[in-house]
Amino acid sequence: LIVILDFGSQYSELIARRIRETHVYSEVISYRTSADQLAQLAPKGIILSGGPNSVYDDHAPQCDPAIWELGIPILGVCYGMQLMVQQLGGTVERATAGEYGKAALSIDDPTDLLTNVEQDTIMWMSHGDSVSKLPPGFRRLAHTQNTPMAAIAHPERKLYGVQFHPEVVHSIGGIALIRNFVYHICDCEPTWTTAAFVEEAIREVRAKVGDKRVLLALSGGVDSSTLAFLLHRAIGDQLTCMFIDQGFMRKGEPERLLKLFQEQFHIKVEYVNARDRFLAQLRGVTDPEEKRKRIGHEFIRVFEEESRRLGPFDYLAQGTLYPDVIESANTNIDPQTGERVAVKIKSHHNVGGLPENLRFKLVEPLRKLFKDEVRQVGRSLGLPDEIVRRHPFPGPGLAIRILGEVTPERLDILRDADLIVRQEVNRAQMYHDFWQAFAVLLPIRTVGVMGDQRTYAYPIVLRFVSSEDGMTADWARTPYDLLERISNRIVNEVPGVNRVVYDITSKPPGTIEWE
Ligand code: XMP
Repeated sequence: LIVILDFGSQYSELIARRIRETHVYSEVISYRTSADQLAQLAPKGIILSGGPNSVYDDHAPQCDPAIWELGIPILGVCYGMQLMVQQLGGTVERATAGEYGKAALSIDDPTDLLTNVEQDTIMWMSHGDSVSKLPPGFRRLAHTQNTPMAAIAHPERKLYGVQFHPEVVHSIGGIALIRNFVYHICDCEPTWTTAAFVEEAIREVRAKVGDKRVLLALSGGVDSSTLAFLLHRAIGDQLTCMFIDQGFMRKGEPERLLKLFQEQFHIKVEYVNARDRFLAQLRGVTDPEEKRKRIGHEFIRVFEEESRRLGPFDYLAQGTLYPDVIESANTNIDPQTGERVAVKIKSHHNVGGLPENLRFKLVEPLRKLFKDEVRQVGRSLGLPDEIVRRHPFPGPGLAIRILGEVTPERLDILRDADLIVRQEVNRAQMYHDFWQAFAVLLPIRTVGVMGDQRTYAYPIVLRFVSSEDGMTADWARTPYDLLERISNRIVNEVPGVNRVVYDITSKPPGTIEWE
């Protein structure tokens, strides 16, 4: 185990993922964790994350100074390094020139932490403060043009610091550095593997559940599908999956999902057709948040009713993932007050957010995993690529891709347009070139002409984006001929649509979905 003490950096999770990619388990915990608590966790190494503060701010978050005496190797990253320097008697100052972006690393000592890191390798910097004087016993390992102390060490005490961010993709030598820390300095073994996780998770589920019954809300996304496969492997028919069809999925998807799970994999799935109920809830509703709220509430109602009908169940399985568990997930530390602040842009109603007041006990075997690890687990359990590599699809589905009121007519139109998008993107073999590629229906009409007839019909928006994680995104530079084929087919084959437009807004300032 390697623990990351989180000082509010947007990269804390990324550090954990990078460590796990070396097959060593890692967790993100609060910077407030005491040295005693850390000693109990007995990690083989500790990483102090970056953070938005200056170490000399009044409310700058501090770690327990006793951690330096634990004898556990520690690597400070950016703010983490500055904190180490300050607490151990060195000096940190506002730099005359901060350094932001890529910087070439001049290595003074190519051993230890920097073994196999190439001279002049690019590392990614983002800091306004710099270390100006090292604490006693420390020496410099590397510098850059604007940062005299880019990497430092007290090798005897196994204390290390880097001013750059080895965890980001732009840091070319970052992985080598992380491997040095994990394997050579902390002496970890590469035991965090998909196979080991699956084995352990199955053992735990069996021990916990015994001969009791488990209910799972299946959505067809990668998380709930992986969960279904894992639980089925662990407890067979003690698992019941409930698939609630809200009526907002894509054309053919409910049928496809049922076929796959029931016929191909013999997993018990109860299909609940609740299309009319959800439509009724949305009649006359145009506000996006109100739509999400109603869909979320109705989902819980249907789920409760149906679980009573099919039950009793002792356990509810939830696809909670590690980012939901990290206490600091999506929070920042306010530099003025030292308080954590969370920012909410849109409410996300997922089956995952369910249901707090039900009287089930929870089974959450994926709670240690990041999303990419879930995909690996899913794949190793035999989940087909069409689910493992499916584009993200919002819980409220097409209901938030029809702007304004959702009606059966509009759903039919959008489903047909969406199918054409999928078919043409697949035909061009570009599905995996996009983070998402989908259609949105606007509730307005524009004038067109077809044959000799004037038309007055809906426009369809194509929203194709590239992204790493959905947090930021850019509009995709889709080839014109693909756009042309899609546009021609939609206008010709989907009655009710006479115009197709392409969204060229990045996120931010736009979001990926339109509602
Ligand atoms: P936005 O639109 O906020 O979307 O840029 C970011 C990512 O999240 C997906 N998304 C959702 N996923 N329930 C979900 O499960 C939701 O309510 C929801 N809203 C947006 C969106 O598709 C994109 O991948």
